[in-house]
This record gives sequence, structure tokens and C-alpha cells, in this order.
Amino acid sequence: MYSLNSLSVDTLPEALGRTNDGYYNAADNGIDFTKFLEVTTRSIPIPIIAPINTSSTLDERSLSEIISSGLASPRAPRTLESVKSSECLEALLSPSIRSSGGTPHDHPSFEPHPMIADAWEALRRSLVYFRAKPVGTIAAMDPTEESLNYNQVFVRDFVPSALAFLMNGEPEIVKNFLLKTLRLQSIEKRIDCFTLGEGVMPASFKVLHDPVRKTDTMIADFGESAIGRVAPVDSGFWWIILLRAYTKSTGDHSLADMPDCQRGMRLILTLCLSDGFDTFPTLLCADGCCMTDRRMGIYGYPIEIQSLFFMALRSAKSLLKPEGEGRDLLERIDKRLHALSFHMRAYFWLDHTQLNNIYRYKTEEYSHTAVNKFNVIPDSIPDWVFDFMPIKGGYFIGNVSPARMDFRWFAIGNCMAILSSLATPEQASAIMDLFEARWEELVGDMPLKVSYPALEGHEWRIVTGCDPKNTRWSYHNAGSWPVLLWMLTAACIKTGRPQIARRAIEQVEKRLSKDGWPEYYDGKLGRYIGKQARKFQTWSIAGYLVAKMMLEDPSHLGMIGLEEDKKMMKPGLTRSASWTA
Ligand code: GLC
Repeated sequence: MYSLNSLSVDTLPEALGRTNDGYYNAADNGIDFTKFLEVTTRSIPIPIIAPINTSSTLDERSLSEIISSGLASPRAPRTLESVKSSECLEALLSPSIRSSGGTPHDHPSFEPHPMIADAWEALRRSLVYFRAKPVGTIAAMDPTEESLNYNQVFVRDFVPSALAFLMNGEPEIVKNFLLKTLRLQSIEKRIDCFTLGEGVMPASFKVLHDPVRKTDTMIADFGESAIGRVAPVDSGFWWIILLRAYTKSTGDHSLADMPDCQRGMRLILTLCLSDGFDTFPTLLCADGCCMTDRRMGIYGYPIEIQSLFFMALRSAKSLLKPEGEGRDLLERIDKRLHALSFHMRAYFWLDHTQLNNIYRYKTEEYSHTAVNKFNVIPDSIPDWVFDFMPIKGGYFIGNVSPARMDFRWFAIGNCMAILSSLATPEQASAIMDLFEARWEELVGDMPLKVSYPALEGHEWRIVTGCDPKNTRWSYHNAGSWPVLLWMLTAACIKTGRPQIARRAIEQVEKRLSKDGWPEYYDGKLGRYIGKQARKFQTWSIAGYLVAKMMLEDPSHLGMIGLEEDKKMMKPGLTRSASWTA
């Protein structure tokens, strides 16, 4: 988490010189923002549900059918009041849920789950307004805890909210959010004497409302106020991914085509496609630069960032205009995608066979004939992996760099690898096989573990720097985060295994709302509300709604799923030279 003094500022060209309703530079004008810390939120207590739009079952349809149907046709929001209580709502909304066979957990009744209405109400309460327009959702609305910076709109946290609104036919807020964050991108960002890259998108922003002067002010945090002072590498990627989701869901290309949006994308891409000393196509990152936003030993080439990078590159490819600087970027994107898919599929992939290969690696191999290219010492393989790895199943490991493989499993990286088709179809089904084989460890009582397993004892002390928030099986250290349900559900739909998502959703429905929508759960099985978890955490709420709506109408997957690009390289995995020696 970040500290309270997240008072960076927005000095947008359009706002320079304004005295009200604008963007300010606190450092320059000395305004004390702490007196405005309450974010403007409004409540519209009308829950809205997804429209009826499913003609055939998910299990009968291919991904391309799923993706091409139902998109680009804005859906009118529908109020719950407009549906008679006597109607079988859930059956009406989602014939696919009932008709797809093979689920071990058929629902006994066809009533909509009461949590849906609760969730919509809570989501609408979290709306943040800027000059009377909704521009995002606040991270958490927990009245019992000190807000720290949970009273801000986080870019990554807004993604499930945005998807929920898009799925419900309410794209305006998403458009407003994309435009506002784009403006924030263009301000100068500094940490002490150092200026950050132009393309960096904020981790979060907040709206300060002055009821006396009747002004709204927006301030952003690019990492200069964050605990640990780390810039969010994922924000720019999520921004591009969301721009594509908006375009896909509304059919409105005019937003992405705007010169400002094209420029925003170019700035983000320039940051991560620039030449340097790299020998790998993966993106080198600092610890804590994504959802795991504090020291957790993910520095280097974290899987979450690589999957999001891949997805953002593919999304940008479909949105960038092939003119001027865009043409050059498109070429660089193609080259990078090619190299990145090869690298990830070959070196980050771990299954039973590959684990056995690594176990038998020779070391000190020199030159291009080396099989153990990164000189990984087999003794560094942790014991738990040998037990964890099923014969059928696999996953992308956490990190690969010279002599370092982080064998931990991470949820976002693996789910996004499926959604972006960074994973080959075979790898995608192996990831789902792993979920089934290791249900207790990865899903447990509350979906879904952010990572597995937890770091403990000496390792925890060294890797986290003795972080008391990240103790074993808590928070980022293998805690269970309900928000991840939407990604799991999307991955299940993409791989044609909705029954897995249904099982996870059923588990969520037993507790999440009763527990007050916590941010995360603790324990090996995720059975305890997290030590310092916020209640009414918005992305826990939105994640549930997105999962429900996607299962009901799988065509929504097209917003966030990309089909396989057959041109990407599929490496044949190499065996250790020791096998043939
Ligand atoms: C925590 C999470 C981060 C999230 C923020 C707001 O810091 O680690 O990923 O964006 O809370 O919910």
C-alpha cells in the first residue's frame, strides 16, 4: 500500500493557470490537500443487471463464435425493478449456466443470487465523480479502517469495475476514466531530482472536492508517494487493455482513434520497447511494480508483467493507426511479440517433463549449444515443486533470469497468459488441469490465491524484508483475493471449462457478501478474513459481478480475450544435454 501523502499533482496544459475545477501542482502552489481528503462519491441505489443475450450454450460454441457474437452492440442498462420477481431471472439471463453439462454443482434453484443486487449497489456507491461526471471507483469504502490511499481510484482496481459497467451497457464511465488518466499521464512526474518517463501512467488518482469553492481537483500518484516508491508498470498496460475492451464492447473506434489516445499508447509502448542492455525480450522490472505493490521478491521478469505486456502489445496492435510513428511502432510490436512468445513459452513453462529436465540439467554449459542457457543450478529447485507438480498440468513460473528460477505459481500471470493467448492452447489447458489437480492449494475455501506457496521463516525475512503485512499465507504472500475470480472465470470460459468457474463462484457465494466483501483472506485454505483486509473492497465486488455476467453471457469474453495468433512461435522444449550425453 501507499502512504497517506499521495499528493502528487496534475499540471495539465489545459488546466495551467486555472483557479478552479482544474488540476494543480501541490508542490508549486503550496496547497494543503490534506484538508480535502474526502473523495466525492455518490450513490445511485438502483442495481442494474446484465441483459438477456445468450442464444446458445458456451459449451457448444467456439471462442471465435463467442468473441464475435454480442460485441460492438451497446447494451441498454436494465434495472432490477423492470424484471418481475416471478420471473426465473437467472435462467432467463443465462441458459448457458443450466444447459452446459458436466458440472458437478448444479444449482437447485433458478433464483438470481441475492448477492448480485447487493454488489451492484455497493459498486455504484463506490463511484467517484469529477465535475459531476463519473470517472472511476474508489478502492475501498471501509468506514472502520484508516483509509490510507484506499480512498483513491487505482488504475488496476478499476479494471473489473470497468468491465462490469461495459457488460452492463454503461460505457460512459469507462470512457471518462480513459480520458482522465490519459491527461494525468501527460504531467511531469518526479521523485526527488529524478524525472520519470513520459509514458508512465498513474497507479492511482484522487478527486478532491471543495464544497465551498465548488471545485474539483484531481491528483495522481505515479509511485512518488507509494510505499517503496515504485512506479506501477502494470497501469499503462491495463490502460491499453481497457481501451481495447471499450472499443470492442461499444464498437466505438473514435475514442481509440483520437490523436491523444494514439499518442498515449505510443508513449507507453516507447517506454517498454526502447533499446537497452537487454538480452531477453521480457521486461525488466523493480519489485512491487504491479498488483503486488511491495517487496515480495518479484523483481526481475515477473510473470504478471510479462503476461500483461504481451496482452497490451497485442491490444495496441489492433488499435494503433499504421501512420507516422505508429507504423514504426507496429513493426517493433510484431518483432517483440514474436520473441516474447518464444521466450515465455520455452523458458517460463513448467510441467512434469520440463521439471524433470531441469532437475537433470548440467551446469557451466558455455556457448550457443548450451541447453541450460541461464545456468540454473538444479539444487535451487525448492522441494515443494516436486510434490505440487501433477503429471497432467503445468504453469508459467514466476520469474526466469540468470541462475534464478522463481518456481512460485502466480494467478494473474497465468490467467492473463490464457486470456492473451500467450499460452498455447495446450499450455492453457494444462494451466486449467493444474487448477483441478491442486484445487485445495490454489482455490481452497476462497478463490483465488494470488501466489503459491507462501514464503516462510528465513526466506520470508530475506525476501520481504520482514514485512509484517506479508506474513505467510496473508496478503501478497499467498493470500486469497476474491477479485481474481473474474480472471479465473474468463480463463475457464476461454478454455471451454466453465464448470471450474461455477465451482469457484459457488464457494465465493457462501461467504463474500456476508463477510462484507473483504479485500483478501488469509490461511492455507483462505478461510480467514485477511489480517488487515479492507471491507467493501470495490474490486472484490466488481470481480464477482464480472464473473457472473461472463458466465451468463460468454460473448463478453471478447472484450478481454484474444484468439491465438497462429504465427507466434511454438518452441519444441529442449532436453538437457545430460540426457543424450
Ligand atoms: C493494495 C494492492 C494493490 C491495490 C491497492 C488498492 O495495495 O496490493 O494491488 O491496487 O491495494 O486496492
